Amino acid sequence: MKQVRFGIVGCGAAAAHHAVACREISDKVKLVAAYDANEKRAKILAKTHGMEPCESYQSLLARNDADAVIVALPHYLHSEVTIAACEAGKHVLCEKPMAPTLEECDAMIGAAKKNGVKFMIAENHRFLPAHVLIHDYVSRGMIGRVHNSRKI
Ligand SMILES: NC(=O)c1ccc[n+]([C@@H]2O[C@H](COP(=O)([O-])OP(=O)(O)OC[C@H]3O[C@@H](n4cnc5c(N)ncnc54)[C@H](O)[C@@H]3O)[C@@H](O)[C@H]2O)c1
Repeated sequence: MKQVRFGIVGCGAAAAHHAVACREISDKVKLVAAYDANEKRAKILAKTHGMEPCESYQSLLARNDADAVIVALPHYLHSEVTIAACEAGKHVLCEKPMAPTLEECDAMIGAAKKNGVKFMIAENHRFLPAHVLIHDYVSRGMIGRVHNSRKI
């Protein structure tokens, strides 16, 4: 498998976790570029992980040395940047939740299909051992019926 070269858009808490995880599989993944509206944050993350800081997400998406993008922005920006990344031919790993509305989610999926790129949401919690265990307990009825008292 060839090494996938990633850019990161949004350099806050989630991005820092991704960057550390990417470095643990550096034979498969290379981090190349980072952008954040907060220039200082972008520069710190970029310097820590050997990336180049970019001046805009558009300039990051225009780079030929990025195959894929991690979108680690606030929820309301996920669809805009994901769709732009797909249009630029980049594969996308977008943070959860996918987007605030179903329409935006559909547009994101549509953009990925139209441009033939891979699109994933970082639903990593489903794989955390504690969550897998609780899911198993609930599925087997071991803790009775689970209620959600919040009004949705
Ligand atoms: N999968 C997980 O377990 C997990 C964990 C934490 C956060 N998240 C998700 O990750 C996303 C980011 O959360 P976070 O905790 O990293 O938030 P954060 O506030 O730490 O980071 C967000 C970053 O986006 C930047 N930003 C804001 N507006 C911008 C803009 N217009 N252009 C460019 N950069 C902009 C901010 O400067 C900040 O550095 C959220 O969707 C959150 O739900 C997922």
